[in-house]
Amino acid sequence: MEYSILNNNVKMPKLGFGVYQIPESETKEAVLHAIKIGYRLIDTAGAYKNEAEVGEAVKEAINTGIVKREDLFITTKLWINEYKEQNAESAINGRLQKMQLDYLDLLLLHQPYGDIYGAWRAMESALNAGKVRSLGVSNFDAGKIVEFAKLVEITPQVNQLEFNPWNQREKDEEWNKKYSVQPEAWAPFAEGRLNLFHNKILQEIGKKYNKTVGQVVLRWLIQRDIVVLAKSVHEERIRENFDVFDFNLSEEDMDLIKGLDKKESAFFDHNDPIFVERLTGWSI
Ligand SMILES: NC(=O)c1ccc[n+]([C@@H]2O[C@H](COP(=O)([O-])OP(=O)(O)OC[C@H]3O[C@@H](n4cnc5c(N)ncnc54)[C@H](OP(=O)(O)O)[C@@H]3O)[C@@H](O)[C@H]2O)c1
Repeated sequence: MEYSILNNNVKMPKLGFGVYQIPESETKEAVLHAIKIGYRLIDTAGAYKNEAEVGEAVKEAINTGIVKREDLFITTKLWINEYKEQNAESAINGRLQKMQLDYLDLLLLHQPYGDIYGAWRAMESALNAGKVRSLGVSNFDAGKIVEFAKLVEITPQVNQLEFNPWNQREKDEEWNKKYSVQPEAWAPFAEGRLNLFHNKILQEIGKKYNKTVGQVVLRWLIQRDIVVLAKSVHEERIRENFDVFDFNLSEEDMDLIKGLDKKESAFFDHNDPIFVERLTGWSI
């Protein structure tokens, strides 16, 4: 495993296991597989409806001696309707209870809408009370992270954003790093969109290192110093996605991947008002 040292000196694994879209009934087993294989960073969210099952897997992994709590890095996120300061305070306590944890390693604001400053104050208090080890945001574009980092007391440690070969976000990478905010990639495979796993260029690069397209993509992000989350419900893929620490992509291959950038989301634009209305449930 490789690690990133966050701006508060907390050590964060550079590869994690994401559980978005894993049904509750399959989450415990998938997370246990991931921990047995060697993943230490687990990423969930209130919105994923599987935090309790992540907590069950963590408890079992610790009780059966596979890992110690301090070896794990557990992330969850607050949703927009929890952002008011008092709501956020009780939401954080609720999360710890639901996940059967004494503390979280990372707590994120899932989306950049609503009372983000009120929620952040509650998150800062939770950090100071030892309930959370680091704080972050998600889906904050470069302009938003500059404004936010300037106005809050504790600069976010992490910003979780979509990063994949179709949406490489060099500007976001640059501005987050400038403000000492660690970029973290969601949907590194663009969930397979635009036929990512069958892309000829990625396949050719993979052949050179005897690696799959998925492994090439994960390695490409790790080499950009971007923490990356991969999700799978299949044990062999969970294992495959972890096997990315025994090779280095050459500069030439990093450049070839650069050429795939479409400079737009494979999913949605966080500044599109229709998307904002749909996500928040707000409209006039
Ligand atoms: N902050 C946010 O707003 C946000 C948004 C989205 C995601 N996330 C986080 O980021 C994590 C990763 O993103 P994601 O789950 O959306 O997408 P992803 O990791 O890009 O893609 C997951 C998809 O790829 C497939 N897959 C995984 N490994 C594979 C392999 N080696 N070969 C072929 N197919 C493979 C999976 O299928 P199977 O499961 O069938 O194997 C699944 O359909 C999430 O789980 C979540 O924790 C955060």
